[in-house]
Amino acid sequence: MPTAHNSAAKGDFAKTVLMPGDPKRARYIATHFLENARLVNDVRGIQGYTGSYKGTPVSVMASGMGMPSMAIYSYELYHFYDVENIIRIGSAGAISERVNLRDLVVGMGASTTSRFAHQYDLGGDYSAICSYPLLESCMRTAARLSLTEKTFAGNILSSDAFYGETPEMIQKWSAMGVLAIEMEAAALYMNAAAAGKHALCICTVSDQLLNDEHLSGEEREQGFTDMMRLALETAVDLEK
Ligand code: HPA
Repeated sequence: MPTAHNSAAKGDFAKTVLMPGDPKRARYIATHFLENARLVNDVRGIQGYTGSYKGTPVSVMASGMGMPSMAIYSYELYHFYDVENIIRIGSAGAISERVNLRDLVVGMGASTTSRFAHQYDLGGDYSAICSYPLLESCMRTAARLSLTEKTFAGNILSSDAFYGETPEMIQKWSAMGVLAIEMEAAALYMNAAAAGKHALCICTVSDQLLNDEHLSGEEREQGFTDMMRLALETAVDLEK
């Protein structure tokens, strides 16, 4: 069903959709990894493609940056396009000493600085968590791809203010065992929960915020290959 933000027809999306933040990355994945990829949405340049990977139908569409943007696109995919599984593939800033540049962080839980959960009027603090079947499939796939040593599953923080991440705030979240900061997972997880669907966030560590290390632009491009393979192979594993 076309919406104000998505011109795709019902049936244009596969059961599983990978969502990078960046539309250019969506196009990169579609052209380099998917067979028979066709563009199904380009409203606001939020490119969405559907094709197949090793015979499994897979879609990839950008989420844009931040929770409100992710929330609009994922809500529509779940509710109007019958999508079952959304796997966010993004970048994150590590705030754990165990986690290094280029490592992969899988968000079991997504804490947040946002008030997104208040829309549900629950009267308490909601714990946004990933889908266990997706997590299990992802970790099994990581082992099969020999990525276990660089893959860390745990709590992540979905921040609303990229430039509000102060050293004090980073220390506090780090001391609670949170592994990394990104900006979309909590909205995705809550949308999935409210829709009775499945979501997982996998991030490549592009920044180590504890010691101010950052990947270069070129390394950011290359460093994402492991995450893309992990997400695509997880989409295939889910079909088994
Ligand atoms: N903060 C939030 N999101 C991010 C970061 C960060 O430091 N790095 C990559 N995505």
